[in-house]
Amino acid sequence: MSAMDDGHYSGVTEGDALSAAEEAYLERRTVTAAEAEGDERAVEAALRPRTLDEVVGQERVREQLSLVLEAARGRGRAPDHVLLSGPPGLGKTTLAMIIAAEMSTPLRLTSGPAITHAGDLAAILSGLQEGDVLFVDEIHRMSRPAEEMLYVAMEDFRVDVVIGKGPGATAIPLEIPAFTLVGATTRAGLLPGPLRDRFGFTGHLEFYATADLERIVRRSARLLEVTLTDDGGAEIASRSRGTPRIANRLLRRVRDYAQVRADGVVTLPLARAALDLYEVDESGLDRLDRAVLDALCRRFGGGPVGASTLAVAVGEERETVEEVAEPFLVRSGLLARTPRGRVATAAAWTHLGLPVPADAAFGGGVDAPLFEED
Ligand SMILES: Nc1ncnc2c1ncn2[C@@H]1O[C@H](COP(=O)(O)OP(=O)(O)OP(=O)(O)O)[C@@H](O)[C@H]1O
Ligand SMILES: [Mg+2]
Repeated sequence: MSAMDDGHYSGVTEGDALSAAEEAYLERRTVTAAEAEGDERAVEAALRPRTLDEVVGQERVREQLSLVLEAARGRGRAPDHVLLSGPPGLGKTTLAMIIAAEMSTPLRLTSGPAITHAGDLAAILSGLQEGDVLFVDEIHRMSRPAEEMLYVAMEDFRVDVVIGKGPGATAIPLEIPAFTLVGATTRAGLLPGPLRDRFGFTGHLEFYATADLERIVRRSARLLEVTLTDDGGAEIASRSRGTPRIANRLLRRVRDYAQVRADGVVTLPLARAALDLYEVDESGLDRLDRAVLDALCRRFGGGPVGASTLAVAVGEERETVEEVAEPFLVRSGLLARTPRGRVATAAAWTHLGLPVPADAAFGGGVDAPLFEED
């Protein structure tokens, strides 16, 4: 099933496949080298799964995607365009890289904010080779003219290059090779309909179950050469906000604590002490999450309050509150998005150790409406 079984793997080496032990060795070496440089981003990159089979959890998206890719390989064609959506740190970039790897093609990387002019995009598109995977991160933040150019490129593999200005301007159509666009967004709702419709497959990434996060923590611990007890790993997983990136980060912080304050082994009491020190609470809420809940309950009486007002109250950008804090609070049944604004659920008051007001909007959040306020 995997690219490797088919002999399509486009890793660093050509010719003989590496043995599992060699693979593991190389993988560990990359991780330790990245760690030695003290570069968190490099460590994160080194902990990334490299094939679909290595991806933990997200069964549905993984199975759907593996079908799309296998079918495309069978036909010898570039797969349909893929949109990946979901909160930060759930694996969108990871999956984009895997798509390219499984198709044995290079991945070209760019992002919405980097494409300020349609010309930037035209340059990228005309430089593509047949079958390339073009990854556009934060695709919802692309400029309008670039977006319109992308529609045509996705559908007809063509860009219209405009020469001149005003009434004398002419558009010269330029054919581009068939490529696969992989778009990533934390806000699928902000994508204009015409763009969303041009993706042949949309994978929506969900927060991870604790059991999956436990597997991720154990895998990363092995790569980072951290000794971890089962319950120590479980504790880190359960406080990771359903997010692999956070699980990996907490593991590294707990590892620091274990190294400095103990004998290096991550046990349950040690994980608890370390996570308390880093202000990650038992439900995995971090400072921002708690600040949002706190403002919502204490300052706005539980809401409803608009997202912008709430953001100002916690001193953050509205986008950060909406894209980083809220999805997890909603998922945890602590906050509801209603047409009139954000509302605290009864569970939110309880979480803060406050008495639940008689008129608290929602009992648990399970039935809470999920409409955007605007
Ligand atoms: N399914 C998974 N299994 C194991 N590790 C994973 C998985 N998904 C993500 N990770 C880990 O989490 C880290 C973050 O993932 P990634 O960068 O792909 O997230 P993202 O969705 O692109 O986030 P952002 O929206 O911030 O760009 C990766 O470095 C990887 O190690
Ligand atoms: Mg990313």
